[in-house]
Amino acid sequence: MEIKSLNKNTMIAEACCGEGDISKKSELTEQEHTQLRAAKIKVEWLKKMIPKGLSAKFAYEGEEEVGFIEYMPIELSNFHKGKGLYIINCMVAPHTLPWGGPHRERIPGCGSTLVQAMIKDVQGKCKGIVTPFGFAYTEDMKGFFAKLGFEEFENDGLTMLIRKFEDVKLPSPIHYKQKYQFRQVSGKVIVDIFWSSKCPADPYTLVNLQEVCNELSNNNLILNEFCVDEREALEKYGIAGGTYVNGKFPWSTYGPLEKEEIRETLEKILGVK
Ligand SMILES: CC(C)(COP(=O)(O)OP(=O)(O)OC[C@H]1O[C@@H](n2cnc3c(N)ncnc32)[C@H](O)[C@@H]1OP(=O)(O)O)[C@@H](O)C(=O)NCCC(=O)NCCS
Repeated sequence: MEIKSLNKNTMIAEACCGEGDISKKSELTEQEHTQLRAAKIKVEWLKKMIPKGLSAKFAYEGEEEVGFIEYMPIELSNFHKGKGLYIINCMVAPHTLPWGGPHRERIPGCGSTLVQAMIKDVQGKCKGIVTPFGFAYTEDMKGFFAKLGFEEFENDGLTMLIRKFEDVKLPSPIHYKQKYQFRQVSGKVIVDIFWSSKCPADPYTLVNLQEVCNELSNNNLILNEFCVDEREALEKYGIAGGTYVNGKFPWSTYGPLEKEEIRETLEKILGVK
């Protein structure tokens, strides 16, 4: 296994969330088309964040990217007050998906190698590394991180894991007060999406939502899109993410939404089915 750094060649692979660079595939499924469009949105965000200090490492088996770890100075986080630390945004190594099918067959040691590569990169540039307990559908990776020297902390209601290189002030959370008011418009169905570019799952839902709303555009449907990449937007709206219909959350999942579910739900609410 080879570890590579983030650069213009590996950027799209990362934005495809550990699936490798799907733009190189000769044929794409409908879902992969959406995934690629979402990845391009994430790439634009990466281009803005890399000069500010965001970085990543990738695990490659031959030509194939099989895993990644993305991290940045905590000062860039919209959700943490902290100094002199790096925060892990996300990581993936080959694993079995919780709902059954393989993401890719596990390559024992891959996850640890990625974290060690990150440590090698940031040690000397910071006082320590913090991470959430897990990512996306793997909410509990505490055991994995414990083996790499991370320990749990609680500060001002924030619970995370830290690997300290030296004494450092623990980070605290930034809270936003919801200011956005969901409004009702008589005879209309209002869809509000609050999305950010950090995890391509949000742009994936955005792209699908735009397409379905476009298909249903003869109906009384209003789509409001709010990008909350910037702290100012979070302060203005106070909602970090999610797709709401008439102010409610009607979906079966907090994960990325597929077109079928969006179509079915909206048609039901619009009364066109
Ligand atoms: C958690 C993850 C990084 C582990 O990767 P891996 O390549 O299996 O890790 P390693 O082989 O280096 O494991 C090191 C040790 O941690 C243990 N371990 C692995 N995953 C663990 C977990 N979730 N909880 C506790 N321990 C874990 C391993 O058993 C191994 O133990 P050992 O040293 O006693 O053998 C990987 O399973 C993963 O990426 N999961 C999905 C994460 C995710 O949801 N990301 C967001 C997707 S959008």
